[in-house]
Amino acid sequence: MITEGMRRQFHRDGFLIIPNALEMGDVEILRREADCLINYLISENINIMTDYGGIIGITITIRECADQVPEAPDSVLHILFEKVPAMVNNFLPEESEDYPTCLFNEQYIVKTPDSASISSFAWHQDSQYMDTSAKETFPVVSCWIALDNVNLKNGTLLVEPFPRPKDAKSGGYVELPAQFQERETYVQYHKSVASHYEIPPADKTAAILMAQNRLPLQPPSPPSAATNTAAGSLSKDPKEWVCESQVPVLVEVPAGSIVFLSGWVRHCSMGNSSSKFRRAFMPQYSAGKVVTATGGMVSLAVPCSEYDERERERVDSRIRMQAEGLDFGDDVDMED
Ligand SMILES: [Fe+2]
Repeated sequence: MITEGMRRQFHRDGFLIIPNALEMGDVEILRREADCLINYLISENINIMTDYGGIIGITITIRECADQVPEAPDSVLHILFEKVPAMVNNFLPEESEDYPTCLFNEQYIVKTPDSASISSFAWHQDSQYMDTSAKETFPVVSCWIALDNVNLKNGTLLVEPFPRPKDAKSGGYVELPAQFQERETYVQYHKSVASHYEIPPADKTAAILMAQNRLPLQPPSPPSAATNTAAGSLSKDPKEWVCESQVPVLVEVPAGSIVFLSGWVRHCSMGNSSSKFRRAFMPQYSAGKVVTATGGMVSLAVPCSEYDERERERVDSRIRMQAEGLDFGDDVDMED
């Protein structure tokens, strides 16, 4: 159950952690797929860390080893196109016919055992990997799903909440809406508030220490009747905003928890110094099909609402094949 307070918290901080968001059955499905991909790469003498940087992009690998993925693809698709979108829609502008919620990208992020020296990620914002025009037009939310219990030792996330803008006159924190209806306002606010991040220290040790000693994030207090928009009490020029830096948050959560991350929130991760794999699955969703300034499609751009249609086609084709006495074991095509 995602409340209005949680939605406002997402825009205030640029991220939101929902512990145990997925049932263990779904976690097992994703784990099996991750393991299958890991085993396939190992069998091909590919070093997941040094060759792939720990990131297994589904579009590349799933085709290569589709016949080796043991999981019925339908169940993964159900998680990917129904369960997670039902949650992430709370953090995107309201869907419309022109701008449906789309799967933008998906990847497993794997840290191999005892790989601390090569498996950490530096501070970054996910939007920095996008085309400039696209990232300033389309809200994108990353859904980082822990497939193992994650902690400091096995390489979890460290997230720096958005700096908090204050009202120039009253000095009070600016109130935010539960949802930005327009993509432009959404991106403008997230980008502007993120421009107030101070340069992070290259050494994460101090940030980790601060995170370990901070109090848990609290949801924002209920909005007053007077204001219900972010822009209402902020200067038009974001450079004039007075913002308060926030202490980073260490994500230590059980498997099945999801961290919803705005494309503009700054985060990094630690290396894995444990003796086991640390697995995460990270689909990303966009408000509309992401295109560049010249109209070129970026990444996957698959509307989640088309899942039902694809599902029907798959079932129909299976029924046909069964009726014709054909083996449908090869009917594993993520692209149809
Ligand atoms: Fe990231």
